[in-house]
Amino acid sequence: MYCVQEIAPRVFWVGGSDRRLERFENMFPLPGGVSYNAYLILDEKTALFDTVDSSVADLYLENVAHVLDGRKLDYLVISHMEPDHSAVIAEILRRYPEVQVVGNQKTFQLLGQFFTPELGKNRLVVQENQELSLGESLLRFTFAPMVHWPEVIFTWEATRGILFSADAFGSFGALAGNLFADEVDITDGYLDEARRYYANIVGRYGVQVQSAMKKLAGRDIRMICPLHGLLWRKDLPCILEKYDLWSRYEPEKKGVALFYGSMYGNTENAASVLCNKLAQRGVTDMRMYDVSKTHPSYLISDAWKYSHLVFASPTYNLHLYFPMETLLQDMGVLGLKNRKVAVLGCHSWASAAAKRMEELLSAMKEMELLTPPMDIRSSLKPEGEADMDALADAIAASLSGK
Ligand SMILES: [Fe+2]
Ligand SMILES: [Fe+2]
Repeated sequence: MYCVQEIAPRVFWVGGSDRRLERFENMFPLPGGVSYNAYLILDEKTALFDTVDSSVADLYLENVAHVLDGRKLDYLVISHMEPDHSAVIAEILRRYPEVQVVGNQKTFQLLGQFFTPELGKNRLVVQENQELSLGESLLRFTFAPMVHWPEVIFTWEATRGILFSADAFGSFGALAGNLFADEVDITDGYLDEARRYYANIVGRYGVQVQSAMKKLAGRDIRMICPLHGLLWRKDLPCILEKYDLWSRYEPEKKGVALFYGSMYGNTENAASVLCNKLAQRGVTDMRMYDVSKTHPSYLISDAWKYSHLVFASPTYNLHLYFPMETLLQDMGVLGLKNRKVAVLGCHSWASAAAKRMEELLSAMKEMELLTPPMDIRSSLKPEGEADMDALADAIAASLSGK
């Protein structure tokens, strides 16, 4: 049966959730599933905002038909062409052959690439800030290139102050009846998932997020409707402030996240000793992760959150232990910057890890190495304690702003 909600007068949520999918983009674990939001406005004209992933296509098509209740569909607005939102376009066009497809030049180029050049020939190619009246509802299209695809369009509905924000302000996590952030306890894991989504999916494009947010400044925005996760209404400042911080690569929390790789426990022991010493220096609420155990998307999320990052890893085959190499490469590609960092290597006969970690961190912007990389031979010994104390002192001093 259809499953829809009227989220504002004559504006309907017509999406669906998938709790079965193991990994988003076949990469990112989805312990709480994911939602594919889509919206439908009924006015003198009707407008559908995006389609959904194929996994929820049947429900979505039933939702759309239920809300339209026999009316014709006038517009299908495409925010971007990523298949988790565009998979059902061809079916919508088949069922509603008179619908006009709304997008920009790049949208239609990608539409042709994903489908066929002949698809969706009834087009409205919009320009930046172009308006479209549906009756009482007035749409204005704002381009948000590379947030996170080149053709991304945000649509602002001026009468109700609704922003249809594409993937921006979205999150992993299926929806459970409550569609709005003010209807759930967002501090109970949701904001962590929103950060994990942002950092891994949008993180590279901080500059473009800042540009898009500047374009929206001064607009009357009373509701944000993203394509994944909860909708924002009463808590708008919360998500806007988070997006501003995340896209400026400013840490949310002054604190330590330590990432270690370890084959037989020796590097792990050194990492534990360091955290112990930091605790004795008054550092609280630290995070410590085994890079072989925890999926990199969670590590990236905490790297976005914390101000001080420590990387500890053994040398492996005269290179850096691969899970750590992967994490640091990922961080580099996502453009993380502006962190205080420390490096702890471990080797038995040839040292490569410490040097490589330093090299990868130096290639990122505004990464301040707090001390020269420390390098342990096989296992930490009491003779090495003074060096570990010095490292702990440097991190603690930096945290307290000395
Ligand atoms: Fe996307
Ligand atoms: Fe998406």
